[in-house]
Amino acid sequence: MLTVLVGNIKGGCGKTTLATHIAAFFAGSGLATAIGDCDRQRSSLNWLRRRSDALPPIAGLDWSKDVGSPAKGLARLVIDAPAAMHHKDVEDLIDISDIVVVPVLPGAFDEDATAHFLERLAKVKAVRKNKRAVAVIGNRLRPGTRASDHLDGFFGGLGFQVVARLRDSQIYPSVAAQGASVLEARDRRAASYAAEWRPLLDMLAR
Ligand SMILES: Nc1ncnc2c1ncn2[C@@H]1O[C@H](COP(=O)(O)OP(=O)(O)O)[C@@H](O)[C@H]1O
Ligand SMILES: [Mg+2]
Repeated sequence: MLTVLVGNIKGGCGKTTLATHIAAFFAGSGLATAIGDCDRQRSSLNWLRRRSDALPPIAGLDWSKDVGSPAKGLARLVIDAPAAMHHKDVEDLIDISDIVVVPVLPGAFDEDATAHFLERLAKVKAVRKNKRAVAVIGNRLRPGTRASDHLDGFFGGLGFQVVARLRDSQIYPSVAAQGASVLEARDRRAASYAAEWRPLLDMLAR
């Protein structure tokens, strides 16, 4: 089983958006997929409740109180981590994960908070020893703005690559309301947003 942890201490940066899209990608590839929702708001589980039966199925694990054990036979597990993570929790979740995905919004406050989180990540043994890949994902970008253009240099300077850049668009709250993703919408507009996920999805498809 491949486990992907989506986390950042910064709230509202796109953890649930990333977790639900990654799960939709795996499920769409025909893999038995579950989301482990560790957040008290249970946004990923609520997204699953809104999901149409016509879309590839994704199982939901309510890990908002305790991290449980995933069901047998699962091929992919995506963990939607809570914003308030204690050091011990981060370590425990990284321990069971293969890849850590960190969404970040443009802007100095978000960069600083994320840098702090990445610093904590870098101290975890599995990450330090290069046994866990860490993918920073720029989210809600407005191309051509200084804050968006600043991300690559900022995280590059910390030794982390910005693997994918996702534009800010109302399509995200819109697909979220239907328990879907831009990867599953069939119109041309959605396809142009789906293309931005490619570098991350290629990394996860290894
Ligand atoms: N690329 C984007 N463009 C526009 N809105 C977005 C984008 N990514 C996330 N959002 C919206 O921002 C809000 C917070 O995102 P969410 O994924 O719930 O963050 P988190 O789980 O980190 O709190 C949600 O309303 C979501 O639909
Ligand atoms: Mg969330």
